[in-house]
Amino acid sequence: MTDKKAHLSVDGLEASIELPIYSGTIGPDVIDVTSLTSKGYFTYDPGFMSTGSCESKLTYIDGGKGVLLHGGYPIEELANKSDYLETCYLLLNGELPNAEQKKEFVDIITNHTMVHENIARFFRGFRADAHPMAIMCGVVGALSSFYHDSLDINDEEHRKISAHRLIAKMPTLAAMTYKHHVGQPFMYPNNKLSYSENFLHMMFGTPCDDPEVNPVLARAMDKIFLLHADHEQNASTSTVRLAGSSGANPFACIAAGIATLWGPAHGGANEAVLNMLEEIGTVDRIDEFVAKAKDKNDPFRLMGFGHRVYKNFDPRAKVMKETCDEVLTELGLENDPLLAIAKRLEQIALEDEYFIQKKLYPNVDFYSGIIMKAIGIPTDMFTVIFATGRTVGWIAHWHEMISNSYKIGRPRQLYKGYAPREFPPLEERK
Ligand code: SDX
Repeated sequence: MTDKKAHLSVDGLEASIELPIYSGTIGPDVIDVTSLTSKGYFTYDPGFMSTGSCESKLTYIDGGKGVLLHGGYPIEELANKSDYLETCYLLLNGELPNAEQKKEFVDIITNHTMVHENIARFFRGFRADAHPMAIMCGVVGALSSFYHDSLDINDEEHRKISAHRLIAKMPTLAAMTYKHHVGQPFMYPNNKLSYSENFLHMMFGTPCDDPEVNPVLARAMDKIFLLHADHEQNASTSTVRLAGSSGANPFACIAAGIATLWGPAHGGANEAVLNMLEEIGTVDRIDEFVAKAKDKNDPFRLMGFGHRVYKNFDPRAKVMKETCDEVLTELGLENDPLLAIAKRLEQIALEDEYFIQKKLYPNVDFYSGIIMKAIGIPTDMFTVIFATGRTVGWIAHWHEMISNSYKIGRPRQLYKGYAPREFPPLEERK
């Protein structure tokens, strides 16, 4: 807290309204406007462009400098020196684990990867061509029907076991969603494998043939999960917080986050990027699509470009691009035509006045799809992978909110409807 104040002078009010200003560890100060309602005013900020919704210690983003920190550690450091489960531990506990803590945490997650056998029956109800995100919304929400032993959100142990179950089971459910899609039998988790090896085993292994997982692909998968782990108060995380503020159970809150992530403006962008690159088809059609993206009368946007916060490069995109080169080299796909289009599109866009002026840079979704496609993951599974990685961020924010004092989220509005009027009897209506 600080003793700095903002003084809001309002036409018609004799005295100005004094509003407290708070400073974070780093980053912009915030103006506390909670007293405005008592003065007869609401703030107005559609899309929350200028609104801080909460206090948090988990993640810090500086959009102007392209900085992303989890627990104070730069994302580049974590991506290159840590791994996904260490980052999960950091987001849940505020510190990186020591060797003993890491072993214990990895064992806990490993031993929660199986799902109740009844869940397999849910999948049989979905059509084979159901979108994987539609299935994930359903089955993750349904998890709450299995865990009545841990739904007291005010019990810290219940919160922890729910967080562990969700982090552990998301890869299993994601792989089951894929297997249902392709008509293959579900693969059980293998506790001898690492988190990301296990995911690729469940995705691409079959009862008839369960080859060794390529360590380069497992490392790339782990980096993709890690780069998607958390991102401050983005749309899906804000949804999870809002759902949690009503006291809803964590599985229902995560299902709400999955639903929000699905949109092409958010987590659905990675799928949209691949579809866009395939629609462009060849390098010589790039200019046509860049022109469409710049045309105000054309709703087309260059998917994978732009960000509400990053007005400079997205640090995750840089790591993702390096990982993309590693994976394609490992698989002998350096000449992947989609990669050629993506790299040329990035170069053209970064030199184009429109994109420079609007500060539109590649975001986390621009290269991730090319890696996932190279690994063999189908395009409509990309956002499921994003949701799997982001589950730790969602549940860490939920846990942080419930562990501290919070109120139910209930914004107000600027009302533009009718003023009170007489009710017309049916016979008098035109
Ligand atoms: C994610 O919030 C997060 O942290 C999200 C995320 C996370 O980890 O959780 O980082 C993940 O969602 C990444 C973003 C993925 N989405 C896309 O790649 C979809 C394409 N991008 C756009 O839809 C857009 O850039 C957004 C949604 C990402 C950001 O939109 P904003 O902040 O609301 O900005 P805006 O729509 O007001 O755009 C500002 C201007 C507009 O032009 P003007 O009205 O000022 O003339 O830039 C233009 C937009 O038309 N613009 C684009 C563009 N993105 C913005 N023009 C062409 N192509 C684009 N991609």
